[in-house]
Amino acid sequence: AEAEPPPSIPFSFKGLFGTFDRASAQRGLQVYMEVCANCHGLRQLSYRNLTELGLSEAEVRAIAATVQVQDGPNDEGQMFERPGRPSDRFRSPFPNAMAARAANNGAYPPDLSVMVKARAGGADYLYALLVGYSDPPQGVELMQGMHYNRYFPGQQIAMAPPLNPGQVSFHDGTEATVEQMARDVTTFLAWAAEPELEERRALGVKIVLFLTILGGLVYAVKRKVWGEAH
Ligand code: HEM
Repeated sequence: AEAEPPPSIPFSFKGLFGTFDRASAQRGLQVYMEVCANCHGLRQLSYRNLTELGLSEAEVRAIAATVQVQDGPNDEGQMFERPGRPSDRFRSPFPNAMAARAANNGAYPPDLSVMVKARAGGADYLYALLVGYSDPPQGVELMQGMHYNRYFPGQQIAMAPPLNPGQVSFHDGTEATVEQMARDVTTFLAWAAEPELEERRALGVKIVLFLTILGGLVYAVKRKVWGEAH
């Protein structure tokens, strides 16, 4: 069977004037850090980028310091681990693809940096994937270690359902239903994939405004210069 097309979700960042819902993106960061980061990297993002989501410098330092990153070589030529700093990229959970596959039954958990742009359906697909798990329909035989997901191409995915009700305790008290966590982590990952989206749209609006005013001026001048009544 074909994968179901993902339903369209009214995310705040869709549309011409859309912006990222900061509270949702911050909850999504929490979901990513506590759940997804166990298997997936986000290597195009640095911790310091989180200030753009409204986190303070101190909060960013504290979040970076929760992970241990590889550094070195030091003066003795040795690699060593140290707590993360704001300037570090988000730490990837595995040192290489072999280790990642070894920990996941041979399947590779892809880096999520641009996932929202990489898959057809974008944010709608990501959300649908996270809420799309169920028992397989009658007559469908699951392969070893696979899980049924009606939105995944082929419907059999190596990733076990990553979200379960109450999996995280949101700092802001929001109830952590599967749909809520899926929505929030999708918002966070959409921001991570395109942090400049809002600026780009604001610039577009300014350009259109400028062209409208310029057009009006040009028309007024044209009427004045070539008009009949002088
Ligand atoms: C694949 C997201 C948590 C293991 C994927 C894919 C996405 C994703 C978007 C790619 C699907 C595709 O190819 O179209 C997430 C998110 C998570 C999360 C947002 C947190 C909420 C986890 C965790 C694990 C994991 C905790 C490991 C225990 C995998 C694996 C694949 C995968 C092995 C490859 C599946 C396959 O190709 O069959 N995940 N994931 N994921 N994920 Fe996750």
